[in-house]
Amino acid sequence: MKRPMQIAVLVFTVGATGGLLASGGEKEGSKILTQASNAKWQAECASCHMAYQPGLLPERSWRKLMAGLDKHFGENASLDPATAEEITRFLAANSADRSGNRRSARIAASIPAAAVPLRISETAYFRRKHDEIASDIWRRAKVGSPANCQACHQAAEKGDYSERNVKIPR
Ligand code: HEC
Ligand code: HEC
Repeated sequence: MKRPMQIAVLVFTVGATGGLLASGGEKEGSKILTQASNAKWQAECASCHMAYQPGLLPERSWRKLMAGLDKHFGENASLDPATAEEITRFLAANSADRSGNRRSARIAASIPAAAVPLRISETAYFRRKHDEIASDIWRRAKVGSPANCQACHQAAEKGDYSERNVKIPR
């Protein structure tokens, strides 16, 4: 009976510390996506758009996306099998449902179990967070598409999507 008690105390302590840090601005920090990197992913997945952090989609989405690179949103983004396999392993290991990051966990939780979205911008989490953005803003020349995260999130490439680093271009 001693163990569960100790665990309860530990959980409480961590929770309380999180609360304290929140007032000092550290809570935002904990929302920054896990910074995992892989050289092949950087080389192959950041040439047409930013390298979307693995923690933005669940494992099943990455596997499906990586299995269809020859028909990737109207582009052929095919890779040799060894490279594709390494990137798939990297994305899966750090995916929204496996990374342990708080924001990633929320993204994963917003997707129904049977759904396998290929776009971050189609998840309920994304829609909810962007529901105040008028449709004409998405069409602005400097934005172009909801997939263009770094048009508005100035620290997107660091996995930082916090409010203080958002600036919608004119
Ligand atoms: C040849 C160019 C090209 C390459 C290389 C490429 N992509 Fe893409 N990707 C695109 C285009 C085009 C879109 C659609 C962008 C839009 O809707 O504005 C896209 C969209 C995406 C999206 C959906 C974004 C969203 O939420 O709407 C993901 C996720 C993605 N790519 C992942 C990857 C990964 C992982 C790799 C590396 C294996 C990769 N891409 C390599 C062209 C590319
Ligand atoms: C047209 C500009 C724009 C684009 C493009 C955009 N966002 Fe956002 N995003 C915003 C705004 C504005 C907010 C709301 C800021 C706030 O109030 O926290 C937001 C909020 C968010 C949040 C929640 C922030 C928080 O602390 O609650 C996340 C996560 C996020 N965006 C991720 C993304 C990702 C990933 C992409 C690309 C796939 C993207 N955004 C594309 C403007 C944009």
